[in-house]
Amino acid sequence: MTPPVKIARTDAALHPLLAERWSPRALDPGHELSTEQLTCLLEAARWAPSASNTQPWRFAVTLRGTAEHAAVLDALAPGNQVWAHAASALVVAAAETVAPDGAPRPWALYDTGQAVAHLSVQAEHEGLAVHQMGGFDRDRVRSVLAAPDSVEPLVVLAVGRRGDLSALPEPLAGRETEPRTRLPLDELLVGVDARAAEAA
Ligand SMILES: Cc1cc2nc3c(=O)[nH]c(=O)nc-3n(C[C@H](O)[C@H](O)[C@H](O)COP(=O)(O)O)c2cc1C
Repeated sequence: MTPPVKIARTDAALHPLLAERWSPRALDPGHELSTEQLTCLLEAARWAPSASNTQPWRFAVTLRGTAEHAAVLDALAPGNQVWAHAASALVVAAAETVAPDGAPRPWALYDTGQAVAHLSVQAEHEGLAVHQMGGFDRDRVRSVLAAPDSVEPLVVLAVGRRGDLSALPEPLAGRETEPRTRLPLDELLVGVDARAAEAA
C-alpha cells in the first residue's frame, strides 16, 4: 500500500511543504539516508535563528544498522520502539542550556525546537519524513551520548522515507490514514484579533 498523503485542511493557502508535512510511523526499513541528505537536514537546522545567535542546538545522528541506533532505539518508550526501529536515522536533538562560561541560556529549548522545525520542513522538501518523539528515557539517552549536564536531550527524531503501513500493528496502522487535526485558529488567539477589527 502506498503511503497516505495527508494534506492539512487550512483556512488559508499554505506552502505545500507545510500543508503536506505530517509525522508518519510507517517508515521504509530498506531506505538508507545518504550523507548528502543528512548534511542537508543538519544544515537546515544550523541556519535557524536563535537568541543572540547562540545556536544552542546539538544533534547526535545514529544510522540504522549501527550499535548507536540500537542503543537509542532501546531507550525509546515501548510504544515508540514498535515503529521507530525502521527509521533510517534516529537523531537525538539536544539543547546546550548552559554556555561554556557558565551563563544560563534561557532560550535554548525554544531555539532548539525552532531548529528542529527547520530540519523537518527541509526533510519534507527532500522527500523524507521526520517524526519527533518525546517518549524516551532521558538518562539512558544521555549516557549513550556521553553528554555533559549542560546538554539536555529534548526529542528523538525518527528520520526516514514513508513506508508501507501494512507493516504496522493496529491501532498504529489505522492512525496513519486519520486526518490531521488542529485547534481552530480562533482558539489560538488571545486578547486582540486584528482580523475581527478589519471585518467590522
Ligand atoms: C515534542 C514532541 C514530542 C512528541 N512525542 C511523540 C512520541 O513520543 N511518540 C509519537 O508517536 N509521536 C510524538 N510526537 C508527534 C506528535 O504526536 C505529532 O506531531 C502530532 O500529533 C501532530 O501530528 P502531525 O505532526 O502529523 O501533524 C511528538 C511531537 C513533538 C513535537
